[in-house]
Amino acid sequence: MDDNIQLNAQGQLKHFLTIEGLSRALLTEILDTAESFAGMTEQRVKKVPLLRGKTIVNLFFENSTRTKTTFELAGTRLSADVLSMNIATSATAKGESLLDTIRNLEAMFVDMFVVRHAISGAAHFIAQHAAPHISVINAGDGQHAHPTQAMLDMFTIRQLKHDFTQLRVAIIGDILHSRVARSQIQALNTLGAAEVRVIAPKTLLPAEVESLGVTVSHSLGQGLRDIDVIIMLRLQKERMTTALLPSESEYFKCFGLTPEKLKLAKPDAIVMHPGPINRGVEIDSKVADGPQSVILRQVSNGVAVRMAIMSMAMQKQGAQG
Ligand code: CP
Repeated sequence: MDDNIQLNAQGQLKHFLTIEGLSRALLTEILDTAESFAGMTEQRVKKVPLLRGKTIVNLFFENSTRTKTTFELAGTRLSADVLSMNIATSATAKGESLLDTIRNLEAMFVDMFVVRHAISGAAHFIAQHAAPHISVINAGDGQHAHPTQAMLDMFTIRQLKHDFTQLRVAIIGDILHSRVARSQIQALNTLGAAEVRVIAPKTLLPAEVESLGVTVSHSLGQGLRDIDVIIMLRLQKERMTTALLPSESEYFKCFGLTPEKLKLAKPDAIVMHPGPINRGVEIDSKVADGPQSVILRQVSNGVAVRMAIMSMAMQKQGAQG
């Protein structure tokens, strides 16, 4: 990827497309900025005027519950005008190209696109072709990246565990098809985590996975030892082209997180999941709804973290000249 496209001439955030290539200082600035927005949820008026007069268009070419709604809330709480396109009823269904859709929306004087797309690189493509004043935020592209999800996960980990350098983090499940896992691994390594361990059957790991900066285990029993943070992933069947597992029940037996398996990690380990969760496939309901689960806290934090990223990207535009 063109590694400078995300930053302006002053090295400040303009687009947010991937964690790859971003510095620890910039990721920490995002987390610190999100901290200032997190307290707003307790306030009677949950709004600041930072993006008043700006127009944000959400372009979700793939389904979403958490990401789409938290981006809408984040934009609204920053006082921007937020428009979520209904792709199913848009001219995309009549064959309009992505670039023509972008050009037509640009003609309406928008300032930011938030993009989710099934094709890896779609947000990057839009950032390359959009007008210079427009910021593009990647809300998940194919198997490539989901950087705002990774940042809300980092925010949640920092809230509860404070020091990344002391942490062993296990990411469990379908690493092969997961854009979330890729972004989380990059963020954890950039922030200095002591170890990022992936736990999965061989069929659900990419080739040469160690080159991503992880250790590997194929057993939940072995792999959960000494772990502070457990991140569960769902099986992404929509991206599987061949049968990679004997059955879901067999998968749950070997890799599903149950209360008994959870005891193998550190006693104060937290359990995370980007959602949507598939109960009884990768996680037992007793764990998903149990005292160590922070899954809904992740969702709440999504608003503050997305407010931070959107406001940083928009405010830094002015510094470009
Ligand atoms: N975590 C996540 O991206 O969830 P949605 O698909 O619901 O946005």
